[in-house]
Amino acid sequence: MNVLVTGGAGYIGSHTVLELLEGGHQVVVLDNLSNSCLQAVRRVEQLAGRKVRFVEGDVRDAALLAQLFAAEPIDAVLHFAGLKAVGESLDNPLEYYSNNVAGTLTLCQTMAAAGVFRLVFSSSATVYGEPASMPVSEACPTVEPTNPYGRSKLVVEHLLQDLQRSDPRWAIGLLRYFNPIGAHASGLIGEDPLGVPNNLLPYVCQVAIGKLECLWVHGNDYPTVDGTCVRDYIHVVDLATGHLRALEFLCGQPGCHIWNLGTGQGHSVLEVVRAFEQAAGCAAQYQIGPRRAGDIAASWADPNKALRELGWKAERGLGQMLVDAWRWQNQNPQGYR
Ligand code: UD1
Repeated sequence: MNVLVTGGAGYIGSHTVLELLEGGHQVVVLDNLSNSCLQAVRRVEQLAGRKVRFVEGDVRDAALLAQLFAAEPIDAVLHFAGLKAVGESLDNPLEYYSNNVAGTLTLCQTMAAAGVFRLVFSSSATVYGEPASMPVSEACPTVEPTNPYGRSKLVVEHLLQDLQRSDPRWAIGLLRYFNPIGAHASGLIGEDPLGVPNNLLPYVCQVAIGKLECLWVHGNDYPTVDGTCVRDYIHVVDLATGHLRALEFLCGQPGCHIWNLGTGQGHSVLEVVRAFEQAAGCAAQYQIGPRRAGDIAASWADPNKALRELGWKAERGLGQMLVDAWRWQNQNPQGYR
């Protein structure tokens, strides 16, 4: 298949491009490099031993998209491009609506005009809010998100559902990610956040390597096993293969399909820190701080729908995720720069 990957130079995008190439697909990457590096694509090419067509540009650029669809025989789109920092979205909501919502709108308009109706969208478990019961299945209701980032994901889910209802040719997958961590086993590609990381794993890695002094654990008075928040961490390579399975499914089945991508296992922040210390063989200093606004106590997936319908399940456990994250950090102390 010829696959357009928007945001293909980013963390999850780059790992998915590699899986696509290894699966024999042709890939075109469109990325504006606002929060990613061309180097990631080059390393993917090195790993796969194959070239990727890279286009630097923005999903909101309708003229560029039209040109791209005219020039390339695209069969499907994996749409990763977007902004993803909760705090930043509160300070700059227009950028979030513009990139995430307007970007998807422009992409879908161009796809329809070009007669391409197969799309996989990167959604988030954030659309479930604080789940009433665990594990969270796709049947759980979505809630009004507490921040513009979360709202932009939910708005796009609704947009895509409406679009599919209006035109049955569309085959759309909404993938609700839990917490992607880890890196490719080669240590050549991984997560490279700009500035001080917001997310747990990059923060822990930077503490362990000495770039940051200490991890602040955001609260230990939650109703969980040890008082710290519980999440479903999933290896980014497992997440990437989930996209391939979704793509294959969509070839035979139009509709708008929702799948959770998680392991089905929850781990607390302190469990992650301890497991990291074991995997890395070094200490990660931490202190208990106050709760972070907007955090929920616990969230883990019921991944059975993906297993039933896609034949997909996460293969890698927490230890593997942490070993791989640490290898990436160690081999690339300054990320791609
Ligand atoms: C966050 C976002 C979520 C988004 C996802 C991917 C929030 C509230 N949620 O998920 O919407 O889809 O990232 O970008 O921001 N933690 C610490 N100290 C830290 C960092 C994190 O204790 O320095 C804890 C958090 O309280 C949380 C866990 O680690 O319990 C995981 O945090 P994080 O990696 O930021 O993911 P989420 O908050 O689950």
